Amino acid sequence: MCGIVGYLGARRVNDVLLTGLKRLEYRGYDSAGISFFENGNIKTIKKSGKVTELEKLLIGENCTGSLGIAHTRWATHGEPNDTNAHPHSDQSGKISLVHNGIIENYISLKKGLTKDGYTFRTETDSEVLTVLIGAIYEAENDFEKAVRLALAQVEGTFGIAVICSDNPVQLIAARRGSPMVFGIGNNEYIAASDASAIIQYTRSVVYLSDNEMVVINKDGFQTKTIENDLTKNKIHQIDYDLEQLEKGGFNHFMLKEIFEQNSTVKDAFRGRLLVDEGNVRLGGLSDVAEKLRKAKRIIITACGTSWHSALVGEYMLESLAEIPVEVEYASEFRYRNPILDEDDILIAISQSGETADTLAAIKEATQRGITALGIVNVVGSSIARDTSAGVYIHAGPEIGVASTKAFTSQITVLALIALWLGRMKNLSATQGKRIANAMKQLPEQIEKIYEKVDEIKAIADEYSSSRNFLYLGRGYNFPVALEGALKLKEISYIHAEGYPAAEMKHGPIALIDDNMPVVFIATKDEIYDKILSNIQEVRARRGKIIAIATEGDTLIQTVANHVIYIPETLPMLTPILAVIPLQLIAYYIAVKLGCNVDQPRNLAKSVTVE
Ligand code: F6R
Repeated sequence: MCGIVGYLGARRVNDVLLTGLKRLEYRGYDSAGISFFENGNIKTIKKSGKVTELEKLLIGENCTGSLGIAHTRWATHGEPNDTNAHPHSDQSGKISLVHNGIIENYISLKKGLTKDGYTFRTETDSEVLTVLIGAIYEAENDFEKAVRLALAQVEGTFGIAVICSDNPVQLIAARRGSPMVFGIGNNEYIAASDASAIIQYTRSVVYLSDNEMVVINKDGFQTKTIENDLTKNKIHQIDYDLEQLEKGGFNHFMLKEIFEQNSTVKDAFRGRLLVDEGNVRLGGLSDVAEKLRKAKRIIITACGTSWHSALVGEYMLESLAEIPVEVEYASEFRYRNPILDEDDILIAISQSGETADTLAAIKEATQRGITALGIVNVVGSSIARDTSAGVYIHAGPEIGVASTKAFTSQITVLALIALWLGRMKNLSATQGKRIANAMKQLPEQIEKIYEKVDEIKAIADEYSSSRNFLYLGRGYNFPVALEGALKLKEISYIHAEGYPAAEMKHGPIALIDDNMPVVFIATKDEIYDKILSNIQEVRARRGKIIAIATEGDTLIQTVANHVIYIPETLPMLTPILAVIPLQLIAYYIAVKLGCNVDQPRNLAKSVTVE
């Protein structure tokens, strides 16, 4: 949420910052702004709306310095208008700051500053931090010290980049709870909320830790704690390519990412799946193997789409590894009093690795002595670093705000973990080989689903004017129903609900009439007959039935209005295939309705506020 970028170097500052903002725009797109040097003074230009609106205002601007900061906003405090847009300035106009996060004590800080005669132009918490830095700078005349002392007074979360007109070759960035990484180039530095804004200039990056800051000057940088103790950091190499951040010929990132799943699923199990042994090698978990084997209970915590994959994981782990599993919304976990046992293990699932609620759940668990593991996409992200071990899903950058490929890769990794733990327990080699073989076939089976894209688009077109949808599934397909409904509402703003199919008769059936499309995930498994009965119940009430069914199932054609076939696989792996037509239905409906698929209203990719 909110993208931040700061640059110090010899390139044209505004160009680097704008390119960075475009890469970070998936994090928020309510407004955008930039501060740069013009004849020794800081000039700030900001505008509500997308980065392209800001870009228009920058044409012809005479940017003369070698330092600047920029921001793309997902509004928390204050309407997304021009005034509330970042960067913010202090009263003297010397300090300029961009912020991602929430300053929780901003009201009391603001009161104190107001008493001292400072005034405010915006409704934001971020301006309060800027004014506070400015006030301390006025007294101390030491920019770095002013930033440190101000941050020490702040409660809440921040990722900031800040500059001072008296120090035209110094960039300071800091973090607590919100991500911040900086790249080290050839006599140039770029700080950003994530590495996608950096990769164009350098692959060498340092991820800041909580309560850490970096002070970057022309000749080098120093990292230190906010208390002013020097710190040492490893320089990491970004492990993906620039092309992965481009649309590659697709109209939208979401479509590109849907069509990457044949390879991303493979990347998730590559080098890990031991087909001949019916087993799995998971280097990232080897140190906690025994702990996991002995675990009395696994708690999986996540948000949104990742929470849906957690539900699939629950079924897999209980059935293969015979360990009781509970799935918790990360946002709820720490605000109740969960009963935890020292033999419990927490697994946090997150694409971004930065979701504030999930991070808070990890903190709650680890403070209470529970081992926390991560299933994460973004390498070096906060969740990857705050957990004691874990497995990367290796899906590559996911830019479309609606998560697609991360979901199928998360389930693939959960299947690997379930198989691995199962084999440590009672799962036979024969059963293990069956699962491993089925997993190996998934990439080709996904490609088969891609061949049906025209058919799926035609169905999407036919129902694009419906204002409500129901998604129903049972067993492993229930989380798929939830995910299908979430995709549709996120990007097309159509009301959609996912339900366990049998629950329909306990309420939602009242909604069904001849205008209601009902998407059934009705693949062949041991409860297939039951779901057929549920389909009949909808049919009897003239609902329109779109069924996702197993190839070769002709019976379903007699009850459904439309059937989209997917290849046969094991029930536990069905979600990986069944979700793809649902992603495509949501995508094509949103396109038909003219919605902004990659940047749906009110959403942001990485939810770094609670
Ligand atoms: C849905 C979506 C969100 C995320 C959720 C968790 O398409 O993108 O629901 O799944 O915000 O995000 P991560 O997985 O980054 O923790």
